[in-house]
Amino acid sequence: MRIFLDTANIDEIRQAARLGVISGITTNPSLVAKEKRADMKAVIQEISTIVDGPISAEVLSLEPKAMIEEAREVSLWSPNVVVKIPMSASGLETISILSKEGIKTNLTLCFSLNQALLGAIVGATYVSPFVGRLDDISHDGMQLVGEIVKVFDRYKLPTYVCAASIRHPLHVIEAAKAGAHVATIPYSVLMQMIKHPLTDIGISRFTEDWQSIQKS
Ligand code: G3P
Repeated sequence: MRIFLDTANIDEIRQAARLGVISGITTNPSLVAKEKRADMKAVIQEISTIVDGPISAEVLSLEPKAMIEEAREVSLWSPNVVVKIPMSASGLETISILSKEGIKTNLTLCFSLNQALLGAIVGATYVSPFVGRLDDISHDGMQLVGEIVKVFDRYKLPTYVCAASIRHPLHVIEAAKAGAHVATIPYSVLMQMIKHPLTDIGISRFTEDWQSIQKS
């Protein structure tokens, strides 16, 4: 399973990229707004100077004609841009056209197997089931990830399943076990994945034992 960072924070992206574990980035309008950046194109182009892998950038238009035009424009921002399209009739129409033009897409705000299936049928490169937001309303978000993986495998659909709205390290483990191709995670979750109390205790003990022998 590949790990993408779900953020528009440049410092977080730089730090995570240095670790070598990040294969791509996903953003959305809320994440860009959180950074107080009003120019999404500038943010995406800055990210593309740091990360070689796919960078998801979301369209804001809602009507098909405007969405298709905006998506084509966004796809030109950088060679590694993946155009993030919200699930809707307009979104499906847009992905259907973009896929024929060879433009990579990420179907976002996916909350059901039917939505994921439609996204794959129209040629989305990724579908992004929102695990945490389903959990928030007492639906099992990870069960949906598993179902999508199973159906895509069954019909050999080439669309990648990107587990999104990841809230904690256990979500990442569950996404891997469910067979998600990608988990896109916040920086804080990546940091939590690194830590283990026994590792910290072990490092302290090794250091102390080594220092004790240096003094004798
Ligand atoms: O990848 C989608 C993500 O940004 C949404 O996460 O925590 O706002 O549900 P959240």
